[in-house]
Amino acid sequence: MKLCMIGTGYVGLVSGVCFADLGNEVVCVDKDLNKIEKLKKGIIPIYEPGLEELVKKNQKNGRLRFSSNLKDCIIKSDIIFICVGTPTKKNGRDADLTQVFNVTKKIRSYIKSKFKIVITKSTVPVTTGDQIEKILFKNKSKKLFSVVSNPEFLREGEAIRDFIYPDRIVIGTSNDKTNKILKNLYSPLISKGAKYINTTRRASELIKYASNAFLATKITFINEIANLCEKTNINVEDISIGMGLDKRIGGRFLRSGPAYGGSCFPKDTKSIVTTADKFKVNLSLIKTVIKSNKKRTLLLLNKVNEILKGKIKNKNICFLGVTFKANTDDMRDSSSLIMIPSLAKKGAKINYYDPSGEKNFFKKIKNVIFSKNIKSAIRNSDLVIIHTEWNDFKSINFKSLIKKKNFVIYDMRNIYSSLKMKKDKIKYFGIGR
Ligand SMILES: NC(=O)c1ccc[n+]([C@@H]2O[C@H](COP(=O)([O-])OP(=O)(O)OC[C@H]3O[C@@H](n4cnc5c(N)ncnc54)[C@H](O)[C@@H]3O)[C@@H](O)[C@H]2O)c1
Repeated sequence: MKLCMIGTGYVGLVSGVCFADLGNEVVCVDKDLNKIEKLKKGIIPIYEPGLEELVKKNQKNGRLRFSSNLKDCIIKSDIIFICVGTPTKKNGRDADLTQVFNVTKKIRSYIKSKFKIVITKSTVPVTTGDQIEKILFKNKSKKLFSVVSNPEFLREGEAIRDFIYPDRIVIGTSNDKTNKILKNLYSPLISKGAKYINTTRRASELIKYASNAFLATKITFINEIANLCEKTNINVEDISIGMGLDKRIGGRFLRSGPAYGGSCFPKDTKSIVTTADKFKVNLSLIKTVIKSNKKRTLLLLNKVNEILKGKIKNKNICFLGVTFKANTDDMRDSSSLIMIPSLAKKGAKINYYDPSGEKNFFKKIKNVIFSKNIKSAIRNSDLVIIHTEWNDFKSINFKSLIKKKNFVIYDMRNIYSSLKMKKDKIKYFGIGR
């Protein structure tokens, strides 16, 4: 099959290269010329384990191409995947679909006679497929297009594995011919055990939002339970294990930590409640989750203040990890974007280290410095905050690396054992314990 991925970001690039690896002819298009030029040279613009090798392999065997010529790519493809961003509207709460509709208008203008399947892999609110159809059908024959929803469930940091071994593949179409073609496209994954679900387009769009809202709720739930654990001298890890072993609950996404962040949960929770509001349905539970998550960053900042006994000014604070989760370079809605500027404003001197490199956002903030390794980042620390759960941070010998005697560790990911820290006479705070 000839596939065209429009938007070569985390989703378009990963799914494009995986489809190529499954034997399809794939072209990944982006309007960002710099990104495309880099990719043509084998330079990967994002941090995603295993991606570089897979891109190079499939470029070499000729199944994967990169292009900025949208017209040519659309005309030559059988299936077009829309993988552009759907961020939250500026000064609003609902999804900004400008990129999706711009691409749709381009598709309409380039398609003349050959039938195409147009798929939204971008996360889009319920009824977006109907709107795409309306744009495509304007002055065109309905026989030219089939508009499908096929949401993507991959997680950054584990994206390739998630794409190749998905729990489920959701295809939203009521067109039998299209469904048959897509089932065939995904057959190598289905034969490895992935469940294939064919629903209506609207249901498929909502499955994605409902899934993300549910996972965000699960994280927020255990974060609130962690707050109770801190007051009652209970280890929240015991609660996560005790609850998670119940098959009806499950242990994943049941570990407490900082507020959830990333490119999906914050924007998708806001978008689903706004969509529901438009249909005069009050998703009060998800609204509460959004509020609780926003408060969480302030709550953890208050704890930092408490740990430093209100004396933040001139304190050397080290952040280990600033991305919203490990194994990605994605900073979108990471809680460090609020914590670091807030502490720097109060006079703290921040050193940070992240295995995915320096972040542009912090370059312009006074008293915030990127260190090239863990050793130099923590050397002069009064307080070390473990913000992201990278493997690199899991066996640090703090005593030998930190010069100051009375340093404190605030482990927001509960990587270390409190008992071991007590034994080593290190002042240590975790989450929910
Ligand atoms: N990142 C994730 O983990 C993830 C997981 C599942 C679903 N999603 C959803 O997938 C969608 C894409 O997310 P992402 O993280 O890959 O976004 P991204 O911002 O990393 O990539 C989007 C790309 O689209 C390109 N683009 C925008 N308009 C274009 C146009 N007219 N022509 C060509 N290219 C264009 C941009 O230049 C950018 O490179 C979003 O709706 C997101 O919610 C993301």
